[in-house]
Amino acid sequence: MIAAAGSGERLGAGGPKAFVDLAGRPMLAWSLAAFGGAGSIGAIVVAAPPGGEARVSQIADKAGVDVSVLRGGEYRSQSVANALEAVEADLVVVHDAARPLVAPTLIDEVVTRLTANSDMVGVVAAAPVTDTIKEASVSRRVLRTPERSRLWAVQTPQAFRTEQLREAFAAHADDLASATDDAALVERSGGDVLIHQASPQNLKITTPLDLRVAEMLLS
Ligand code: CTP
Ligand code: MG
Repeated sequence: MIAAAGSGERLGAGGPKAFVDLAGRPMLAWSLAAFGGAGSIGAIVVAAPPGGEARVSQIADKAGVDVSVLRGGEYRSQSVANALEAVEADLVVVHDAARPLVAPTLIDEVVTRLTANSDMVGVVAAAPVTDTIKEASVSRRVLRTPERSRLWAVQTPQAFRTEQLREAFAAHADDLASATDDAALVERSGGDVLIHQASPQNLKITTPLDLRVAEMLLS
């Protein structure tokens, strides 16, 4: 399932981020092509921006992939929860349209790792952190400096056992608004999550700078 329902405020392109042009195609088209090319994917569900359902169908047609389109929610986790209702498979891969550089091989890898690790509820793509990270208080006083070698910058795709992901969403219905990561909900429910090392090239497009970097990587 692809979360594409965000408004893209920080990108500031004047419309939903998933529809913004990236190297000649709408940003969403890149993820759709990757999912269409991943052998492990049987069906694709897209959470669309309110009123953007027809545009999503149009982009999918042009990319040559079949999709079910659902209306997204007010915040990301609500969009994922909406789309989860339409998922019929035992395993689901959650992906953000904001990561258009995802490779079909990465999608297949997280699914394969989950299938191979029956004790895991989720497998998440992530890259080793290269910056030193500090945790600070609201007044920005540094509280601690976690050891960098153990830190990972989490990405999507994230593969899950569908039923257990649904249960995690149901158990944390009250904090969905603040959740930026689906795996975190699984972790809070006591489910085990495995990291699958991915390239930092699978970057997330948040700001105009990210869009420029992605343009350069794709051209
Ligand atoms: N998303 C979603 N539904 C929402 C909010 C976000 O499906 N209500 C999706 C976005 O489309 C994106 C992903 O979640 O693919 C990651 O969110 P983010 O990068 O924050 O995108 P936006 O919310 O669109 O951007 P911003 O926060 O700058 O408005
Ligand atoms: Mg957002």
